[in-house]
Amino acid sequence: MTAYRRHSMGGGFMDWANQPWPFKRYPYAATQALDEPRPLQSEFWPTLLAWPPPPDPDAPPLDSAGLAGLLSLAAGLTAQGQSGTFLRSPASAGGLYPAELYFSASGLEWLEDGLWHYAPEAGAPRLLRPGNLAGASAETLGGEPRELNFFITALLWRSIWKYHTRAWRYCLLDGGHLLACLELALAACGLEQRLCLDPAAAGGKLLGLTPEREALLTGVSAGAALDHSGPDQLPAWQPPREEPLSAREQSDPDILAAAALGQSEAPGPALEWPDQPAPRGAIRLSPAPPEEGPSLGRVMQARRSRRNFMPQGLSAGHTALLLAAALPEAGPLRATVLLGAGGEVPAGVYGYHPGKKTLSMQEPQDRRIRAARACLDQAWVGRAALNLVLWADPKQLSAVAGKRGYRLAMLAAGRAGQRLYLAATALGMGCCGVGAFYDDEVAAAAELPAGAWPLYLLAAGPVKGGPQI
Ligand SMILES: Cc1cc2nc3c(=O)[nH]c(=O)nc-3n(C[C@H](O)[C@H](O)[C@H](O)COP(=O)(O)O)c2cc1C
Repeated sequence: MTAYRRHSMGGGFMDWANQPWPFKRYPYAATQALDEPRPLQSEFWPTLLAWPPPPDPDAPPLDSAGLAGLLSLAAGLTAQGQSGTFLRSPASAGGLYPAELYFSASGLEWLEDGLWHYAPEAGAPRLLRPGNLAGASAETLGGEPRELNFFITALLWRSIWKYHTRAWRYCLLDGGHLLACLELALAACGLEQRLCLDPAAAGGKLLGLTPEREALLTGVSAGAALDHSGPDQLPAWQPPREEPLSAREQSDPDILAAAALGQSEAPGPALEWPDQPAPRGAIRLSPAPPEEGPSLGRVMQARRSRRNFMPQGLSAGHTALLLAAALPEAGPLRATVLLGAGGEVPAGVYGYHPGKKTLSMQEPQDRRIRAARACLDQAWVGRAALNLVLWADPKQLSAVAGKRGYRLAMLAAGRAGQRLYLAATALGMGCCGVGAFYDDEVAAAAELPAGAWPLYLLAAGPVKGGPQI
């Protein structure tokens, strides 16, 4: 449904007069200023390389400044692009930023109980729904009622405007990018966290979402467990009025059907993903991070999409770190790596085994130029030292996750992508996600098995004038 094929693409018409606004506008819900954001001081590599990121024992107790720091690097503005548009901590397909961040807070002395929406343009949250919603949030995300419950949604029109039905992919990938930022920021604030990749359908009502406009993608609960989790029956509530994103918002029936696939009344359980087969004779990688590294906050602040790759190969150590940062030991994703000449690992197409941290050669050819052609002829992809192709085996997805498989795999791919970006940034290299590709041509370039679904491609490697951190 969302695949691109070279000879069946319609001409893309961009209706600039109807371009969606990148920030939510609530005329009657003001933002509440928090204290000056506290930088995320945790060490970068130990936080990034553990799954889930471990809470920093040295972080001060969460207060208004801590929450401001957390929100600003989970979803906030970190730079201004050349055209004046604001860029954010998570990367975003086309810079359209469909992903939104909400949270319910309960029992914090310095913040009113209720449902909050984060307004990146103000660097502050706005209260949408007062009251203790910890119990209702736990019903959506599972686990015990906790002080803080974060919800990531996608405002579909922001992406549909440009990408039509393929927008569903980008919404999920963008949601995964934001999720990675949120998980890391929570850890840096010293908070234990519990991820829910499959929130209950009722979560949409809790947040006051209009189902044909905005989809709840995923959530994370964090902070202390609570005894007082709010009333069993929540008082009636009317979400505050929102301005439309543009003069004519449109929805896409195929996307709405995909978003509803396999939704259930209860939050989905954490899934057990089978170990992937590791062929013999593979190259074992040893991800050894530098002893002195930058802080998490500095890396997250400095991350940008960079495409000015230099024709240089990677050391085996850097290859190991990039891949270990991106992928957990088990999950719905499969990874194929395309390496060019000049690095410590010979050029070729490799299967990556995240549990064993090994690369097994499938084809001793440099396939990056072919991958670049498959990426709608984005030539810079072919100059990057490493192309990471994230893909899924649809049979395995459906066996483990049923109809939710595609959603979970795409979210995981976005999360892996953001982590690859951050690892590259910390190593002084560049990275850029590529969502625009002809699916069958990427599958062929990366030697994927018949029927495999390519999900996301990322290019990474040395760049001219790399990031200064
Ligand atoms: C899912 C996804 C797909 C993307 N696809 C492309 C792409 O095909 N080509 C490209 O040049 N950049 C692509 N990007 C990079 C975005 O253009 C970039 O993230 C956005 O402009 C914001 O800039 P920043 O990453 O520097 O913050 C993609 C990013 C994401 C998250």
